[in-house]
Amino acid sequence: MKKYNIAVLPGDGIGPEVMNEAKKVLGIVAKHAGVQFEMEEGLVGGAACDRYGIPLPAAVLEMAAAADAVLLGAVGGPKWESLDYSLRPERALLGLRSGLGLYANLRPVVVFEELIDASPLKPEVIRGIDLLIVRELLGDIYFGQPRGVRVENGQRIGINTMVYAEADIRRIMKSAFELARGRQKKLLSVDKANVLEATELWRDVATETGRDYPDVELQHMYVDNCAMQLIRNPGQFDVIVTSNMFGDILSDEASMLTGSLGMQPSASQGEKTALYEPSHGSAPDIAGKGIANPLAAILSMAMMLRHSFGMSEEANAVENAVRLVLKEGFRTVDIRQEGAAIVGARAMGDLVAEKV
Ligand code: IPM
Ligand code: MG
Repeated sequence: MKKYNIAVLPGDGIGPEVMNEAKKVLGIVAKHAGVQFEMEEGLVGGAACDRYGIPLPAAVLEMAAAADAVLLGAVGGPKWESLDYSLRPERALLGLRSGLGLYANLRPVVVFEELIDASPLKPEVIRGIDLLIVRELLGDIYFGQPRGVRVENGQRIGINTMVYAEADIRRIMKSAFELARGRQKKLLSVDKANVLEATELWRDVATETGRDYPDVELQHMYVDNCAMQLIRNPGQFDVIVTSNMFGDILSDEASMLTGSLGMQPSASQGEKTALYEPSHGSAPDIAGKGIANPLAAILSMAMMLRHSFGMSEEANAVENAVRLVLKEGFRTVDIRQEGAAIVGARAMGDLVAEKV
């Protein structure tokens, strides 16, 4: 029997709740497909801070690196907000990204017809939306030096630095062009080349890389305009490639096309082990209440099946199960609609598992 090792990192807040549901559905997939998923759990984020005093223990990073794929819940919460930056739960996420070399973050934005009224946007604007944001994940102002707050001439100044090396732009562009090639052969590169030199380089390298992909139509757009166009007419986009910071912001914005951040999965890929996680955070305000939406975690698990294990058929089955459950009128509170049956995380997981 085929066997895959999965590092499961539930994290904080609603992370463990949604992860339980993803694992439940995965268990059903294993049965049907006749494969074995060996799952090893590890503490990250605030949970690891509490136990070990650091957000990403070396042993957990090692376990993740040795696994065939990593499933992550969410990290962070008010309890750890006063810690030094180097100890915050979020560092676990950044540490996993850099430690595993995960430079490409894929955030699909798919509007389910069943949820068309759950979005604050008009149905005619979002109907049929199926776009992919490819976010560079290891560069930019997130990792650039110098950084920090220091005192100069008697006042504090805060510094972060946007840095992009040519090679780092080229590799994310290659990923994005390849992905675009498998879709509508349309790629939009988003930058702020009218103001920031680093993104002028971004634009140049995008254009250079594009010469190797003559079959893909490359366009450029400034990030402020893109933010506006995502609301005005998101249907014009297919694959969007952008830098770490812009991608962070645009992907949260785009998630609202789907009705809820609770519907947005993500995959982070590098040379080896990939990591899959819902795009939402740990949602401390609803943690422990059992009302979280597990669909982003379940859909992230489906991305794992497709991208890390080549199990497209099973991934489709999971996605279809989600669609069916929504069609039958079941909703978590974040996507509540009139006349729908409101269910908690566990019931939602059961429903999807039943349909797979
Ligand atoms: C995300 C999150 C993270 C990010 C935080 C939690 C560090 O917002 O994955 O989008 O900024 O990358
Ligand atoms: Mg974010």
